[in-house]
Amino acid sequence: MPKTLLVYFSNTGFTRTVAKELMRSCDCDVEEIRELKPRGGMLGYLRAGFEALAKRRTQIVPPTRNPDAYELTIIGGPVWVGHVSSPVRAYVKKLHRQFGQVAWFCTYGGSGAEQMLAELSELAGRQPVTTLALKDSEIDASTFTEKVKGFVSELALVTQRREAARAAGAPVR
Ligand SMILES: Cc1cc2nc3c(=O)[nH]c(=O)nc-3n(C[C@H](O)[C@H](O)[C@H](O)COP(=O)(O)O)c2cc1C
Repeated sequence: MPKTLLVYFSNTGFTRTVAKELMRSCDCDVEEIRELKPRGGMLGYLRAGFEALAKRRTQIVPPTRNPDAYELTIIGGPVWVGHVSSPVRAYVKKLHRQFGQVAWFCTYGGSGAEQMLAELSELAGRQPVTTLALKDSEIDASTFTEKVKGFVSELALVTQRREAARAAGAPVR
């Protein structure tokens, strides 16, 4: 079984595009966070903004994989009004106690990525080994693949260090 779990939520497809690129370059199991209630149109947009600002969770389909079984959990999602989206918030709140090492990525239009990533760390109660933030314009232009490769290389380095520590007898999850 892969040692990495890739978890993502995507409403309009940008995060999904990045997640698919990640799947191509790393050996991981995948969990897509899905909402119980479909979110579309202007009302869905407004509700999304409200939930993110109010730091609300939304109802999600029960996750099928337990992060406890993985050494690294990568979580990705969109920036919503400078905050974590309500479906990602729901997932992290539910499962953060099962996380080992974590890495974050986000997609966004142009501002708020740093704030959102910091909020994700706060919610999870742990710091990521690395992060990746990609603008919609980069994803549209397909210039993001190099950044994804860089992100995957950093994760591989972390894995190597962990294996070395384990070989040296250090307690490593
Ligand atoms: C309710 C809402 C709020 C958003 N707020 C921001 C924001 O504060 N900053 C930003 O750069 N982009 C913002 N965006 C744009 C999304 O972060 C961006 O389009 C993202 O790539 C969407 O990911 P997805 O297609 O995977 O759902 C917002 C989008 C929505 C729907």
